[in-house]
Amino acid sequence: VRLGLISDTNVGPLHGARVRAALERRGATVSYFEVPAGEISKSLGTVAEVAEALAHAGLGRRSALLALGGGVVGDFTGFVASIFMRGVPYAQLPTTLLAQVDSSVGGKTGVDLPAGKNLVGTFWQPRLVYADLSLLATLPARELSAGLAEVLKHGVIADAELFARLDAQAEVARAGDAALLGELVAWSCRIKAAVVGDDERETVEAPDGGRARLNFGHTIGHAIEAASLERAQPLKHGEAVALGMLAAARVGAELGVGDPWLEAQLLAVLPRLGLPTELDAWLVPEVLARVSVDKKRTAGGALRFVVVDRLGSSRTVSVTAGELAEMLLPGRIK
Ligand SMILES: NC(=O)c1ccc[n+]([C@@H]2O[C@H](COP(=O)([O-])OP(=O)(O)OC[C@H]3O[C@@H](n4cnc5c(N)ncnc54)[C@H](O)[C@@H]3O)[C@@H](O)[C@H]2O)c1
Ligand SMILES: [Zn+2]
Repeated sequence: VRLGLISDTNVGPLHGARVRAALERRGATVSYFEVPAGEISKSLGTVAEVAEALAHAGLGRRSALLALGGGVVGDFTGFVASIFMRGVPYAQLPTTLLAQVDSSVGGKTGVDLPAGKNLVGTFWQPRLVYADLSLLATLPARELSAGLAEVLKHGVIADAELFARLDAQAEVARAGDAALLGELVAWSCRIKAAVVGDDERETVEAPDGGRARLNFGHTIGHAIEAASLERAQPLKHGEAVALGMLAAARVGAELGVGDPWLEAQLLAVLPRLGLPTELDAWLVPEVLARVSVDKKRTAGGALRFVVVDRLGSSRTVSVTAGELAEMLLPGRIK
C-alpha cells in the first residue's frame, strides 16, 4: 500500500523516522511530506502544495494518508484526504494531548481563511486514531496544559466524575504522568465519540444542543484567542478555552440557568493545571466585538451558547452577541 505520511517541522524530526520505519517494516511504500509547524499551515495554499506533491509522488485513489502531529496537521491532513482524488482514507497519529483528547476524534477537518479560523472544511472520519502516549514525552509543558483544558471541558459538559478526577489529580496530570494521561485520553475520547455519535454534523435541531455542546468555552474563547494573536504573547487555543469557560460559567449564572458555583470551581482547578484565569483583562469591547463574527451563529443572528446547569450536564441556549457583551463588560447596566 502507498501511504502519504504528513507531519510538521517540529514533530517530523522528532518522531517521523520511527513512524516511517514501522510502516515500511510492514511493507508500506511511504512518501513523507512536512509542513511548517503552526496554525499558518492550515491554509488553502498549503493544501494545494501538498496535494500537488502527493500527485507527483504517485499517490492515487488507492493510497491513504497518515497525519502525524497535533491538531493542525490532523485538521489539514483530514481535509486533504477528503478532497484528494475525491477522497482517500486517512488515519490520525495525534502527537499533542489536545489532538489525542479532542481534535483527532470526530471527523471535523479544515483549514483557515484570512476571514477566520476553520472556515473551509469537511466532515471526513479517520479510519483509525492511534494515540501513542510515548509521543507526548517531547511535548512542551504549556502544550500539555492546553490539552488538559479540553479534558476539563469534557468533564464539565458531560461527566462530573471526570471533572472530579482531574481536580483531584491536577498536579499529577500537569507533570505528565503517563498512567493518568492514558486514563484521561481514553475517557475524553469516549465522551467525545458519544457526543459526536449522536450528532455527527452538528445539526441545529439536536434537542440537547448535540455536538455543539463541545463548543463550551469556545464562543468567547475564540474571540480571546484571536485578539491574543495581535499581542506579544499569544495564547494557546487551550489557554483561551480556559478563559472562555470562565466567561461561559459567568454568563450561565447571569442567565439564571447555569450552575452558579461553576466559575468558582473552575477558578480553583485551572491554575493547578497550568492554565490562565485572568479573564477580566480580556473583557473589553474590542475582544467581545469578535464574538459576532463567530461562524456558529443561527439564522436570526443569535448564538448557540452552551450553558452548564450542573457539573456534567449541559445544553445550548440562544443569546445574541450584544447580550453577551452586556453580561460580560464591567460597569454594565443591569
Ligand atoms: N477537528 C477538531 O475537531 C478540532 C478540535 C479542536 C482543535 N482543533 C484544531 O487543532 C489545532 C490546535 O491543535 P494543537 O494544539 O495540537 O496545535 P499544533 O498542531 O499546532 O501543535 C502545537 C505545537 O506542538 C508541536 N508538537 C506537536 N506534537 C509535538 C510533540 N509530540 N513533541 C513536541 N512538539 C510537538 C507542534 O509542532 C506545534 O508547534 C487548531 O488548529 C484547532 O482549530 C480541531
Ligand atoms: Zn477547542
